[in-house]
Amino acid sequence: MRAYLSTPIYYVNGSPHLGHAHTSVMADILARHHRLTGQETLLSTGCDEHGQKNQAAAEASGLTPEAYLDGRSAEFRRVFDALEVDYDVFVRTSRPEHHRAVAEVADRLHRGGHLVKRQYRGIYCTGCEQFKKDSDLTADGLCPEHPSLTPEELDETNYFLEIEPFRARLVEHVEADPAFVAPSRYRNELLNMLSQPLEPLCISRPKRRVTLGVTLPFDEDYVAYVWFDALINYVSNVGWPDPGYERWWGAAHHLIGKDILKTHGVYWPIMLMALGLALPRRLIVHGHWLGAGGVKMSKTLGNVVNPEAVVERLGPDALRYFLARHGRVDADSQISAELVATTYNAELANKLGNLLSRAGKFVHTRYDGRVPEPGPLEPADEALRAGVLEAAAGMAGPLDLAELAGRMARLVAAADELNEYFTAQAPWTLVKSEDTAERARTAVQVTLDGLRLVFEALAAVIPASSERALAMLSAPLPQGGPWAPRLDRLPGGTPLGEVATLFPRA
Ligand code: MSP
Repeated sequence: MRAYLSTPIYYVNGSPHLGHAHTSVMADILARHHRLTGQETLLSTGCDEHGQKNQAAAEASGLTPEAYLDGRSAEFRRVFDALEVDYDVFVRTSRPEHHRAVAEVADRLHRGGHLVKRQYRGIYCTGCEQFKKDSDLTADGLCPEHPSLTPEELDETNYFLEIEPFRARLVEHVEADPAFVAPSRYRNELLNMLSQPLEPLCISRPKRRVTLGVTLPFDEDYVAYVWFDALINYVSNVGWPDPGYERWWGAAHHLIGKDILKTHGVYWPIMLMALGLALPRRLIVHGHWLGAGGVKMSKTLGNVVNPEAVVERLGPDALRYFLARHGRVDADSQISAELVATTYNAELANKLGNLLSRAGKFVHTRYDGRVPEPGPLEPADEALRAGVLEAAAGMAGPLDLAELAGRMARLVAAADELNEYFTAQAPWTLVKSEDTAERARTAVQVTLDGLRLVFEALAAVIPASSERALAMLSAPLPQGGPWAPRLDRLPGGTPLGEVATLFPRA
């Protein structure tokens, strides 16, 4: 099995924000999970560098467009690197291979008779980089997504792709493949979008208005429309139009926020149909993050969570963990720097790090640094082990983004069970008498082996911390072959590594 996971490519008119970090971290978690469970995986993320709003930002910066784009894309890359997003392809739509693919798509559609040139008057939101219908706007004529930008009235001649002829086929595809859009709420939304006739899609911009883009091969007065251009990254990343691209293209899963369902669920599949190319396997859609109290994050309200600042304060795993634990797919979720710090302290530091350090240090002081040999298991030991194994099994096998938060909650419950068990068994008391010394040994081995399993199960979510914890336990993730949760991979006699604080309290 193979999986090609992609994130949207982000506009570079500002610094990377939490929403960008979220989709890229989720895609990375799914990609790591796929790799751990033995699938060949390709992960792409990166920057959408063309279009009117990037052009305006470049102009405002006083830099040349090239220097502006180089600086911003390096900034996105730095933040994704800091968040341990292990991408295989870092997209920049300014790359020549991507330009070539966009020109090729435009040319094929033109030659195939799918494009018409005509005059058009419409209202344009540069925030969305999309034409809007009156019904898309508020009573005051503003875009609900970008109320601070006054939509522009445009009257110009452009190239349009006829998309209505493909609507029935797309509806059939979505209906025949229930997994095409997940979760089903967005599948219904897509079917709803497809229940009305579709207006032609404007795929060009005159150069007198927009120059940052790919020149149309058949009319050099125009560049390709930024969305038309950006969507093509999904195939240009894997080498299209050269042969061999099918190797990955057949396994494409696009992760997207709910805001861009129409471009990915309507325009992109229809572009592919018009080209005679296969559709992506799946659209994986998620909800948005709001500030605490459910309000949109904004600079004016001062509730913006800056991913780089969080990483600096608490490390990448604090943010990765929070996003995986609390991000929802079919509803919005809330975040603030304080919520991230509280979750980090309460769960990573107090439940996992603290138990690792207590039990690990106990082994160093009482058992000469070697995991003690357990005695016969009692019902309390068996129950705990079964619970931890079941929680860890949630992270083996197929994992839907929609299931991630629930699986994380189950692992937190397992960490609670481990803490309660360790406290209830109290090996530091049992160890004092010869009659109970064997019980002490059992309790310590069962606790450490359970912790090991929890850290293995968290390997895709908090890779660096999981690796450090497993090194302290001298139990690195087994290599060569898909990961499967197993008990007793930390047997009695194992010499532990140095036990240090894994998650210093914030
Ligand atoms: N450039 C286009 C995408 C082209 S893909 C072929 C674009 N860029 S964007 O910079 O606006 O990024 C949008 C994406 O960022 C969303 O779909 C989502 O993945 C992520 N997020 C932006 N804000 C978000 C939240 N508040 N919460 C979660 N994710 C959000 O659209």
